[in-house]
Amino acid sequence: MIRVNEHFSALQPSYLFSDISKRVAAFQAAHPEREIIRLGIGDVTQPLPAACVKAFRAAVDEMGRAETFRGYPPYEGLDFLREKIAEHDFGARGIRIGADEIFISDGAKSDTANIQELFAPNIRVAVPDPVYPVYVDSQVMAGRGGAPQDGRYAELVYLESTKENGFVPAPPNESVDLIYLCFPNNPTGAVATKAELRAWVHYAHERKALILFDAAYEAFIRDPELPRSIYEIPGATEVAIECRSFSKTAGFTGTRCAYAVIPHTCMAYNSSGSQEALNPLWYRRQSTKFNGVSYPVQRAAEAVYTPEGQSQVRRINDYYLRNAELIRREMTALGFSVSGGEHSPYLWVDVKMDSWSFFDLLLTRAGVVCTPGSGFGRCGQGFVRISSFNDFENTERAMQRVRQALEKK
Ligand code: MLT
Repeated sequence: MIRVNEHFSALQPSYLFSDISKRVAAFQAAHPEREIIRLGIGDVTQPLPAACVKAFRAAVDEMGRAETFRGYPPYEGLDFLREKIAEHDFGARGIRIGADEIFISDGAKSDTANIQELFAPNIRVAVPDPVYPVYVDSQVMAGRGGAPQDGRYAELVYLESTKENGFVPAPPNESVDLIYLCFPNNPTGAVATKAELRAWVHYAHERKALILFDAAYEAFIRDPELPRSIYEIPGATEVAIECRSFSKTAGFTGTRCAYAVIPHTCMAYNSSGSQEALNPLWYRRQSTKFNGVSYPVQRAAEAVYTPEGQSQVRRINDYYLRNAELIRREMTALGFSVSGGEHSPYLWVDVKMDSWSFFDLLLTRAGVVCTPGSGFGRCGQGFVRISSFNDFENTERAMQRVRQALEKK
């Protein structure tokens, strides 16, 4: 008898962003005359940088000629891209990461969801609250969540990110084995300092734990004192995997390209207590379950590292940061306390009412979509996340409508 994986029944009935898009679609169907502005899901609107488009086209042409056609790409990614990443994203910042420690993938979402497969079923996992739902759901699917209880899971350890700790939780007193950290944070927009990350790296060494560091939004950091990689912290290459993405940085949400860094020194323990390197284990997993990112997409990603690519990407990220600044100013002027949006595309707004009620209010009165904070966890209740990924004109119009809607309230 074919049986289902019953861990799925412990999940929330639907994935946060699909729930939101269904609600928005229902509202739109009932009010076809209303124009909706989406500041909900973090999906980019600016086109691919010109340098990427040029490289993409040239690579597609290569694929169309017998002499330059290529079949399966290597599971771990093509060397030209891995070398550029090692040199520009790490070497240029004084961090030694080799090209062979980088695995190209189709998204940080897949990597952060899949890497847990390398670990024993009974490890203890810590997740932030609020949290990018993928970290939690992938653990629940793998059976590590335990019983659902009031919107949480009994077996997970929640790292509460609150106004009081500036949305950067400190390591817990208890021991955990795998820790998800995300900075700049999705959803709160908070950025950890080097001292804060140092405390985590120290904890991981002391407790023989591993950090899964999601740095998908690092390109939005403007303060040179703030760490863009966990590997800026001495000792991190032994206890941390880092995931990055071209999605938000270079407009690749629809093109798909990302990478995970698994340093050779990064270890986990087997049942006899000896260390095993995670890099070959991930290669083993990827070569079984993943057939690589297409050649044209990897060429397009490589073009991010050309001088033109770098300045185009910078311009795109500055564009979204300008939106973020506008949202921050407007929401603050309306009397809300707002965090994030300075080194991050997300703004975390304390709306002092139920998150979904505020979501409904904004949708029905202003035709603006945000993301209810409670969808990211218990500590998100009373907050909403506003995304700056949209056109500047739309962001201006959205803020104007929000102002009118809330002034009428
Ligand atoms: C978000 O809105 O949180 C992101 O777009 C989700 C994602 O990157 O998967």
